[in-house]
Amino acid sequence: MITSLWKSRRKFSKLKLSFHFLLQNPQDGRNRLKRWIMIGDHHQLPPVVQNQAFQKYSNMEQSLFARFVRLGVPYVMLDKQGRARSEIASLYSWRYKTLGNLPHVEALPLFQHANAGFGFPFQLINVPDFNGMGETQPSPYFYQNLGEAEYAIALYTYMRILGYPAEKISIITTYNGQAQLLRDVAERRCANNPLIGLPGKISTVDKYQGQQNDFIILSLVRTKNIGHIRDVRRLVVALSRARLGLYVLARSEIFMNCFELTPAIKIFAQYPPKLILLPFEPYPTERKLKERSTLGEPLQIEDTVHMTHFVHEFYMSNLDSLRASYEEVLAEYQQSIRQLAPPSQTDEGLGAETEAEKRSREALEKQRQKEELDKKEADIVFEDMDFERMEEPPNESQNKRMTTAAEKMNGETPDCEKMTLEDSDDVVTPWSVTSSSAAGVDYDKLIVKFGCRKLTEELVERFEKVTGHKPHPMLRRGMFFAHRDLSAILDRKEQGKPFYLYTGRGASSGSLHLGHLVPFIFTKWLQDVFDVPLIIQMTDDEKFLWKDIKIDEAKKMARENIKDIISVGFDPAKTFIFNNLDYMCPPFYENVVKVWKVVNNNQARAIFGFTPEDNLGKAAFPAIEAAPCFASSFPHVFGKRTDLPCLIPCAIDQDPFFRMARDVAPRLKYPKPALIYSTFLPALQGAQTKMNASEPNTCVFLSDTAKQIKNKINKYAFSGGQPTVEEHREKGGNCEVDISYQFLRFFLEDDEKLEEIRQKYTKGEILTGELKAMAVAEVTRVVLLMQERRKTVTDATVEEFTAIRSLAYSY
Ligand code: TRP
Repeated sequence: MITSLWKSRRKFSKLKLSFHFLLQNPQDGRNRLKRWIMIGDHHQLPPVVQNQAFQKYSNMEQSLFARFVRLGVPYVMLDKQGRARSEIASLYSWRYKTLGNLPHVEALPLFQHANAGFGFPFQLINVPDFNGMGETQPSPYFYQNLGEAEYAIALYTYMRILGYPAEKISIITTYNGQAQLLRDVAERRCANNPLIGLPGKISTVDKYQGQQNDFIILSLVRTKNIGHIRDVRRLVVALSRARLGLYVLARSEIFMNCFELTPAIKIFAQYPPKLILLPFEPYPTERKLKERSTLGEPLQIEDTVHMTHFVHEFYMSNLDSLRASYEEVLAEYQQSIRQLAPPSQTDEGLGAETEAEKRSREALEKQRQKEELDKKEADIVFEDMDFERMEEPPNESQNKRMTTAAEKMNGETPDCEKMTLEDSDDVVTPWSVTSSSAAGVDYDKLIVKFGCRKLTEELVERFEKVTGHKPHPMLRRGMFFAHRDLSAILDRKEQGKPFYLYTGRGASSGSLHLGHLVPFIFTKWLQDVFDVPLIIQMTDDEKFLWKDIKIDEAKKMARENIKDIISVGFDPAKTFIFNNLDYMCPPFYENVVKVWKVVNNNQARAIFGFTPEDNLGKAAFPAIEAAPCFASSFPHVFGKRTDLPCLIPCAIDQDPFFRMARDVAPRLKYPKPALIYSTFLPALQGAQTKMNASEPNTCVFLSDTAKQIKNKINKYAFSGGQPTVEEHREKGGNCEVDISYQFLRFFLEDDEKLEEIRQKYTKGEILTGELKAMAVAEVTRVVLLMQERRKTVTDATVEEFTAIRSLAYSY
């Protein structure tokens, strides 16, 4: 009896079996077990010993093989591998004395051909922070990296679109937490989509020991420390799972600096640090490994956002052919089932089917299949693979990158310079806005980051055509600069279909400042232009959760803010204002709960950057800002209608809420909200931040007197002028960073006058003092007008706007 024993925990039963043989009574004085051959690899992971003393001082952390070899058990060192293509094997063969390749690895065509759609058979891909985050550690030893998880699933999806079979791809990672996250993301993005489906396996490296697959996506998770992959044995296991393709997602610098791993790193370093794709090349390919593809130019992926964007686009542009081949496979499958099934009674009774019968039966069957597919599609929203950030090709350069892929590389060379998105230090979240540049936030980059669309001149022209109104100065001058689905709203306006406006305000103490006013001034204008209902949400609950204040204070602040908002000039017959703490009613709450159900913690964290230390209310809040996007939250206004979309005018920092709202909308069977986004009114001190009510000197308040406004602007408004009059006359001023000029851009209505000021200031013909005086005049005009109206707003006016009532529209 000869038994062989592979080193693998799963094969432990074989070990037991061998002991049984060993324990049987010897026959003729000889044991029935003649020889016991064990096959294994002592360069891979040893047993896990959790007790430190046993592990370190008793040398228990070594493999059974290493022990046997040390004890002098005879052994043969196998020195040829037959799993991986030789290029991949070279990543770990240095760990073995002499590790060559079996002849078939050199000979089989399988190993000679390149991986379709990939520039290289393996790469170490640097994954930069995603939404400002790298590794996270929600609890001890539980590491996750959402950027890598999204990247990995997007890469897998890309391979599926090219035609790679799902079962030939495994995704492995060095941490349990990450394996869970990967499963989560895959479940959400791929599981319900029959065109993509789940990968062969998602596992940790340790659990995957002893297994292999053709293609491995490996996520190394850590971004601060190297972590336990420093153990070369674990690295060898991780790198030796793949037969044909190995794509490692990691923070390269962490690994590049780890001395223990040098030989493998050196090989990786010969390849580019960013993933190189050939999206025009379907699977499988006959292209030889070293051959350059002649079909088109490669595409370099910059980061997770780029990857997810690209894959979404790629998916959309291949949707038809994916569907077609899916239908084909489904038809073949059903055909084979039919052939297996016994003939039905009627068939037997009537004998052979006539040609005509056969044709009509086939037609019926086709129809049924189609219906089945349609039904499935109704449940699976194909277009909704991902969060909104993937939804639209954002701006020019991004557009370019994606069309190059989507058009299947029609020979156009992508402009590599344009493809790079340099890192910027801008921070824009709903709770903080800062920039390192005096010219302020780079809004073009923000468009790319958030995945919304630039509000182009053509769209502004269309706006004018559809509404018949000259666009508001803030629209003409690009203060409102980005949007989502604005054209769909213009379509509705054109077709006379109903929709509504929604905006909001987190209450602050004292009066509003000029920055708060911007979206409201614009919203008021939209109300006039569109003549539709307007919903205004006051998030006193948000302020209660984020600030150190009492419920009553929050409510009181909301009430005072409402008075300021009313002073902008809204029409009570067309406007419903509410504060969350008072309004939260069953239909509204139902929508909140529905949103909660379809967004999990990982997603909320990724969108909003919440940390485990944040209170529960913060994580719950986004659903409350999302609920007014759905008409059913306001039955007194919209009756039973649930199909009305809204348009939300707001500052761009609110985008995360509405990205989420748009993502969940189809699953709640509601239309997605459309958006129109403004830039921020800069703080007096400069465009590095926006006005902030808690720092009074950064803002002009609506309650400031003419004298205060004059003093503030003269004293604080950052100037783009030169230090001396002589120098200013000679060199001219810089409007881009000059806050007085920026205020004029927002509030001065006369385009020609504004342009004249710009030219004269740039040439040095207007001095800083003169420019400031003009800004003072304009700002004072706007503020005094508001103060005039504010005098007529009483508690009774607030009651009028907040009363639960129907508006001047019927549905
Ligand atoms: N979160 C916003 C703030 O703090 C308030 C808000 C709620 C809002 N809903 C909105 C803003 C819709 C714009 C649009 O100011």
